[in-house]
Amino acid sequence: MRVLVTGGAGFIGSALVRHLIRDKGDTVLTVDKLTYAGSLRSLRDIAGRPEHTFVLADICDRCAMDNIFASFRPDKVVHLAAESHVDRSISDAEDFMRTNVMGTYSLLEAARTYYDNLSRHDQERFRFLHAISRS
Ligand SMILES: NC(=O)c1ccc[n+]([C@@H]2O[C@H](COP(=O)([O-])OP(=O)(O)OC[C@H]3O[C@@H](n4cnc5c(N)ncnc54)[C@H](O)[C@@H]3O)[C@@H](O)[C@H]2O)c1
Repeated sequence: MRVLVTGGAGFIGSALVRHLIRDKGDTVLTVDKLTYAGSLRSLRDIAGRPEHTFVLADICDRCAMDNIFASFRPDKVVHLAAESHVDRSISDAEDFMRTNVMGTYSLLEAARTYYDNLSRHDQERFRFLHAISRS
């Protein structure tokens, strides 16, 4: 399975990426902007593994997302990139609106463009999973 994981250097994403590589034998592309919340240290256990590719990118960058979909050709997307520390949004919500709303929109549009060009068989297998917080 080829899995695109956004926010893969974060708390949940890095655990998922390590699990997919070590336990599932999947091929994973991690895309992460490496904000204060992300760190490549969390992926050091799988550093250098040929099944893993890390791309430093912002999910709001539609062109970069289109290129990732076109070149990696994922079967599944797990979208975890987010501003997740909700208490920070009280002092300034701009980054939350940008990443969580516009970034998710940009990623969904890139996924739809990619999906529209898949074969019927691959469309039926394709999944897009978005984890959100209710807080
Ligand atoms: N941790 C929890 O207990 C929990 C519980 C329920 C839901 N969630 C949700 O799951 C998701 C992931 O949570 P987490 O705890 O792993 O968050 P996290 O803050 O640890 O990780 C988020 C990752 O997203 C990256 N990121 C932020 N903005 C980005 C952007 N514009 N482009 C690319 N990457 C970007 C960060 O660098 C970071 O690596 C969030 O939506 C969160 O609300 C988390």
